[in-house]
Amino acid sequence: MCGIVGYVGSQSALDVVLAGLKRLEYRGYDSAGVAVLADGGLASARKAGKLANLEKELVERPLPAGATGIGHTRWATHGGPTDVNAHPHLDNAGRVAVVHNGIIENFAELRAELAERGHVLESETDTEVVAHLLAEEFSGCAGLAEAMRLVCRRLEGAFTLVAVHADEPDVVVGARRNSPLVVGVGEDEAFLASDVAAFIAHTRSAIELGQDQVVELRRDGVGDGVTVTDFDGRPAEVRSYHVDWDASAAEKGGYDYFMLKEIAEQPKAVADTLLGRIGVDGALTLDELRIPAAVLKEVDKVVIVACGTAFHAGLIAKYAIEHWTRIPCEVELASEFRYRDPILGGRSLVIAISQSGETMDTLMALRHARDQGATVLAICNTNGSTIPRESDAVLYTHAGPEVAVASTKAFLTQLVACYLVALYLGQVRGTKWGDEIRAVIRDLADISGEVERVLETMEPVRTLARSLSDKRTVLFLGRHVGYPVALEGALKLKELAYMHAEGFAAGELKHGPIALIEDDVPVVVIVPSPKGRSVLHDKIVSNIQEIRARGARTIVIAEEGDEAVVPYADHLVRIPATPTLLQPLVAAVPLQVFACELATARGNEVDQPRNLAKSVTVE
Ligand code: G6P
Repeated sequence: MCGIVGYVGSQSALDVVLAGLKRLEYRGYDSAGVAVLADGGLASARKAGKLANLEKELVERPLPAGATGIGHTRWATHGGPTDVNAHPHLDNAGRVAVVHNGIIENFAELRAELAERGHVLESETDTEVVAHLLAEEFSGCAGLAEAMRLVCRRLEGAFTLVAVHADEPDVVVGARRNSPLVVGVGEDEAFLASDVAAFIAHTRSAIELGQDQVVELRRDGVGDGVTVTDFDGRPAEVRSYHVDWDASAAEKGGYDYFMLKEIAEQPKAVADTLLGRIGVDGALTLDELRIPAAVLKEVDKVVIVACGTAFHAGLIAKYAIEHWTRIPCEVELASEFRYRDPILGGRSLVIAISQSGETMDTLMALRHARDQGATVLAICNTNGSTIPRESDAVLYTHAGPEVAVASTKAFLTQLVACYLVALYLGQVRGTKWGDEIRAVIRDLADISGEVERVLETMEPVRTLARSLSDKRTVLFLGRHVGYPVALEGALKLKELAYMHAEGFAAGELKHGPIALIEDDVPVVVIVPSPKGRSVLHDKIVSNIQEIRARGARTIVIAEEGDEAVVPYADHLVRIPATPTLLQPLVAAVPLQVFACELATARGNEVDQPRNLAKSVTVE
């Protein structure tokens, strides 16, 4: 949460920074601000609300042109989303400007100290103390980078900081601890940003920053002008990488919303995640896992940790892992995991699922797991992000950049990656025969086309969604892997439509939730295949009858050819027949479309729902 950009080069810093912030707005949109070094001084502007407010302000009160600048788009933590609390924050002399992502835990103490020394702090933020501390240190040391190192050593908590000083007009300095920051290196320019999306239009050459590092970008010799040290000033090893997607991947491409584009990209994303992972003999080749087969053979327990939509992917993965490998599998919300003192050891395999690779709850959970001696495998969509870097191994999903806050294509690819891991464990441990694995892989390979077919038949779902826009509650029911799909359907609706939505295990209905059923309450039911575990199918058909008898309006998602549900469906949504365990890959899609359309009908901002951020880097 919070998006940060820094630039030094020969273009207009303001243009580069604003364009970068636009790409990072998914990280927070409570306020935005910029600072530019020009004419020997520092000029800044900041505004509560979305970036558009700041842009308007800059038209009314333009900043002088300069080629060094920083910017910020905020998801508020300390202090409400006001102009005064917006970043950048300046020192009293207005010579230093700083932007920040994270939380400085000892800020109250530092603030008191600064007040004693005569500093006047105007905002309620934790960030402002950094501007004042940098100003103090700068006056007595060898430059902004050194001042940053000294200040960072005094800070507790998680932070990405990017700062400029009017006395060093050719320099931008960044620092990171437990919060993301990447460097982009262009021909005669360099960038700092929370995410490569901010500078991908200018360069695809990036540098990863490690924990507790300070980076200095200098205009003279940019490229070579990138210096990375630890907080004590010791030179750090620099790891460069090439970003394998281009600027167009981060554009809306003709769609009204990123979410619509990302829903439409799912067939490709699913296919890309399978690509290169199946050998000519049809067996799985997950060499990239780098976890020796001997270790995987010894695993006696799998624990999945994740948040939000990724957690739902984990819940589905549990069914596949236990069924295919017979290894017990637990799935836990990352934010709860370490606080209950989980039982882990050298034979535990912990799988951390995260689209962004930066979710603080998940990061803290995996650190705890590693401390306990577990092997940690990340399933992640973002190259070079913190979660894969701190894991023993990573399996990347190849969904491409996901910008809309509500996760769609990342979810489907997380599922594919989880199935691959489950099959791979089965392959290595010999709990699944080669031909069984090949059969599942063939089914997985077909899913891309099936998702495509689902997408082609979504018009009735859109019409239905629009007709329900004045409802207060929508319930979702599922059994087996359909249960986490129901949870995901409800989450999508909460996030986007701001409606009361809940997902239930259909069998649990009679133990309480059935009391919620009243006349015309829409209930979405995800029906398992009648060809799979028929007992599951029969039971859910009974559940549909129970709720219908009590007045519910039933929206039934059932596979083609399932005629048993027809008499009980007020609305029937057909999905292609798939093996039971893979059904979530097609069943989730109508629920995404449903939530997106309903939110649009209610006039909500689909890509940037209120109060949310895509990458949540605080606990
Ligand atoms: C936030 C987002 C969710 C996402 C969750 C986990 O809450 O709003 O859409 O599922 O974080 O994010 P991750 O990047 O770890 O998958």
